[in-house]
Amino acid sequence: MVGNLFKMIPRNLPKAELHCHLEGTIPPLLAKKIAKKNNIDLPPLLFKDKNTYAWNDFTSFLEAYDQASLCLRSAQDYRDITYEYLSICALEGAIYVEVFTSPDHAAECGISYNEHVKGVAQAFEDAEKDFGIIGRAIVTCIRHFGPEKAMTVADSLIENPHPYFVGFGMGGDEGYLDYADFKPVFDKVAAAGYPCTTHAGEHFGPETIIEAVNTLPISRIGHGVRISEDAKSVKEIAKQGIVLEICPGSNVSLGIYQSYSEHPFSYLRDAGCKVTLNSDDPPFFDTNIGKEYEKAHTNFGLNIEDLLDITRTAIDAAFINANEKAKLHSRIDSWKYSG
Ligand code: ADE
Ligand code: ZN
Repeated sequence: MVGNLFKMIPRNLPKAELHCHLEGTIPPLLAKKIAKKNNIDLPPLLFKDKNTYAWNDFTSFLEAYDQASLCLRSAQDYRDITYEYLSICALEGAIYVEVFTSPDHAAECGISYNEHVKGVAQAFEDAEKDFGIIGRAIVTCIRHFGPEKAMTVADSLIENPHPYFVGFGMGGDEGYLDYADFKPVFDKVAAAGYPCTTHAGEHFGPETIIEAVNTLPISRIGHGVRISEDAKSVKEIAKQGIVLEICPGSNVSLGIYQSYSEHPFSYLRDAGCKVTLNSDDPPFFDTNIGKEYEKAHTNFGLNIEDLLDITRTAIDAAFINANEKAKLHSRIDSWKYSG
């Protein structure tokens, strides 16, 4: 065993992130810069100060997130926000990230599906060349926009295959409709060969997570932390090997848990659930993938080996092929702690 609880986690420890919303990664300064270039006035009340967005609960967070994304106007803007996000991840030691992109948000800005793909894909290429980080996209529908819009997003993915657009997901308001209402959408994307994930068990309890798993063709759950409220459901998720995309910083910022000591990350890990660490919407929650690994060390007692295992779990659960996973695993295995 290497490392101990009181030592910082090396910045270059190989990390991976499976759960981050691209439109939620735009730092305030970049949003303002892009808005200025596009002659767009972002509402002044969107910002608390120059580096911070203003929001105070989940609803106002989602509104702020929607408003910030309205600065975007072109494939180049999508390229620039994706590149900025990847450069921060690479600085934090990430070797692989999957980012949720929302064609609905792009459409709100007058950007077509293919233009948004072009911008994001260009950033993946540029960032791999510049930093060696591998980026892939999960096309995401927004639950509270309803099943019809979700089907349009799904069709766009299926009809415009791109090697970097590797999966399908659903975010948004968990209180809106049931998983069954989105089943035709998920079944269609899964039949076309795309692996899927959905947000569940962030704001609602274990029964909704079990409902998601029993209804949709998913191998991962976004958040899923509230499964911890029912021991039998925890066992079921562990038995099925469903991977939890856990975002502790987001959960504490949004008040799902009042503090890290209340957070069920360790309980779920000890119960045999497959857990990963993720940043969700970094500038909104003053986080990034490096800070999440660091917080897992300080708050949950994970040491360097534990954190490398978290990275391995993420790579195993990634929506990429076995060959790509093997290359990433060898980067993790060949990393040496030089504390
Ligand atoms: N979209 C962006 N962040 C989200 C979250 N934490 N939950 C649901 N939808 C989201
Ligand atoms: Zn999320």
